[in-house]
Amino acid sequence: MNVQQLALLAICLGSALATNYTPVIAVISHPYNATHEAIPGSYVKYLEMGGARSLRFPFNASDAYMDNVLANTDGMFFIGGGESLPASAKYAYSVISGLQDAGLPYAMWGTCNGFQWLTELMAGHEKPNDILGSGYDAEELNLALNFTGDAKVSRLFNPISDYYEGIDLIGLLTDNAVTLNLHTYGFDPKDVEDIPDYTVLSTNLDRNGREFVSSFEHATRPIYGTQFHPEKNPFEYGADSKTGVPVEPTIHTGLAVRHSFELARFFAGEAAKTGMNRWDPSSGLEIIYKDHAIIIENDYEEKYLFAI
Ligand SMILES: *[C@@H]1O[C@H](CO)[C@@H](O)[C@H](O)[C@H]1NC(C)=O
Ligand SMILES: *[C@@H]1O[C@H](CO)[C@@H](O)[C@H](O)[C@H]1NC(C)=O
Ligand SMILES: *[C@@H]1O[C@H](CO)[C@@H](O)[C@H](O)[C@H]1NC(C)=O
Repeated sequence: MNVQQLALLAICLGSALATNYTPVIAVISHPYNATHEAIPGSYVKYLEMGGARSLRFPFNASDAYMDNVLANTDGMFFIGGGESLPASAKYAYSVISGLQDAGLPYAMWGTCNGFQWLTELMAGHEKPNDILGSGYDAEELNLALNFTGDAKVSRLFNPISDYYEGIDLIGLLTDNAVTLNLHTYGFDPKDVEDIPDYTVLSTNLDRNGREFVSSFEHATRPIYGTQFHPEKNPFEYGADSKTGVPVEPTIHTGLAVRHSFELARFFAGEAAKTGMNRWDPSSGLEIIYKDHAIIIENDYEEKYLFAI
């Protein structure tokens, strides 16, 4: 079989796997002030761009609340920020592991802070900071990815994956510095080597040449994470929305937006594999855009606010 035939086969398999089901993703909100939690609007729009809808769960949701969330969603998304792993996320991870083992392809994604949580959860660390390194010089830094040999046979970046319809995401991200890094914490590749089933897909160097893991996937379960922020390229403008003062150097070229779209599409497609109408409108859990206020903020274009 030549490469073209292989690609055709992949496309055929892709249509067999394709589903019209719109998955619902559970997104954690982070503390905002004494009375509210928040989710930057870019995450919600990013998931919608990929074909998913979102509902929110509180940072300190109880186990019972999380059981309802897990019964009504197809995937879970841990956003960026600066928070330590909450009990709600630890509980969800353990329940989701059980669901995945039982054959339900419930998907998880972590971005930046959320990527760090998923790495800590996979490492099984009670003390979250055991392997999380600090002092990285990687704020406001746009980078091309340095892929590992595992990337081309991964699910997330596989160039003949049914998701990418011929788009070579590895080539795009190797040649173009479009991934936005906003972190001083990170994982040295040596410190994640012993985590079972943790497959490093790319690494990067900070401004001092110090290496960090920039993306991973679980060897068998639909769990993914990026240290960079694909949700920002299409939806945040790198400037204070009120004063215009530069905040984050978000790149908006076609290829930058393209990588964002492809990763959103990938994750929504993974979550859609549950193939079930898991969200029950009578569950008490609302799709985010239905009933929550957006405020315009200085560090993000938009934030959804939730009274606590
Ligand atoms: C938190 O922020 C929201 C939105 O700006 C505001 O309405 C609310 O009063 C704030 N709460 C406190 C305690 O400052
Ligand atoms: C969430 O839990 C953390 C840790 O127990 C606590 O510090 C924080 O105040 C809680 N936040 C809310 C909104 O309850
Ligand atoms: C890419 O990763 C390899 C393996 O970790 C490393 O040896 C190399 O220095 C990295 N190159 C860049 C430009 O980051």
